[in-house]
Amino acid sequence: MAVIRTIDLTKRFKDLVAVDHLNLDIEEGEIFGLLGPNGAGKTTTVLMLSTVIKPTGGTAVVGEYDIGKSPDDVRKLIGICFQEPKLLWVSTPWDVLNWHAKVCGLSTQERKKRVKQVLEDVNMWEHRRKNVHGLSGGMRKRVEIAKILIQRPKIAFIDEPTAQIDVVGKHKIWNMIQELREEGTTIILATNELHEADILSDRVGIMHKGKLLICDTPKTLKDSILGGDLVEIRLEKEATQDAFDELKSFHEVVDVVTVKPTNLKVHLNKVEEIVPKIMELFMKRNLPVTSISMSEPSLDDVFVHYTGLTIEEAQRKSP
Ligand SMILES: Nc1ncnc2c1ncn2[C@@H]1O[C@H](COP(=O)(O)OP(=O)(O)OP(=O)(O)O)[C@@H](O)[C@H]1O
Ligand SMILES: [Mg+2]
Repeated sequence: MAVIRTIDLTKRFKDLVAVDHLNLDIEEGEIFGLLGPNGAGKTTTVLMLSTVIKPTGGTAVVGEYDIGKSPDDVRKLIGICFQEPKLLWVSTPWDVLNWHAKVCGLSTQERKKRVKQVLEDVNMWEHRRKNVHGLSGGMRKRVEIAKILIQRPKIAFIDEPTAQIDVVGKHKIWNMIQELREEGTTIILATNELHEADILSDRVGIMHKGKLLICDTPKTLKDSILGGDLVEIRLEKEATQDAFDELKSFHEVVDVVTVKPTNLKVHLNKVEEIVPKIMELFMKRNLPVTSISMSEPSLDDVFVHYTGLTIEEAQRKSP
């Protein structure tokens, strides 16, 4: 069941169309990764869905409420971790979270317990009394994420959760996002880190220049690239022409490159299904395989496939 549905959702900033007729369903209980290079329109989408800014066209239904007609009802369902945390009206991480917990309606006792727990979880307990002005970028982001963890909303918008956060912190935050989903929160994760989207998301949508290019599970997207998988085979003896021809005849095989007569690179689809067939082919012809290595396409390859650009190129070309 869709918990969020956008209907031609559009945002114009003067002559720039930041989000262009977005039609998207987000299912209840999933982690939906919104991917795309800088300027793709991810944050603008998140801000419209969370009723921070108003669309200039179309609309969206969040829960059962229209974002334009019932923004207050929408706000009761959602939590948001902003890309640019603004913590400046209170002085310390402890105050920020305590205030947030209060707004979310937690009792004093619950509040104390939950704020302490979450501050420990995001490794900010020892910095809880620091002035927010003195926090590093990564520390501010941790406090921003902690807000969601305290609130545990029905729907969480999480915008670039691990930008500026060190490797150990990243893994911890990824685990916490997964735990939040296990408790039943639907999560919309905006990120331009493709690896993060790949490991966390049930489905991803790739945005580019305000438009949704494609939307599916990471696996389906990767499988959709023709010849996207690569298998490297090393043989004890040179491959015979008939072995070579049979290999090429498999419909999953897109191309065979002979690096050396004993070393073949095969571009193919559905690697997990075809590798046993390849092994059998060589064994049948008494051509022992000394090694076989496989690599699958990443979401980077998917991005390149659908945009014609690497993510770095797309970022350079963004307005
Ligand atoms: N308040 C604003 N006024 C004018 N233009 C804006 C405003 N907010 C966003 N934009 C423009 O809208 C486009 C989309 O921006 P948005 O922040 O949604 O991208 P994003 O996908 O979140 O990028 P990033 O990966 O850098 O966070 C950009 O071209 C941006 O410059
Ligand atoms: Mg953004």
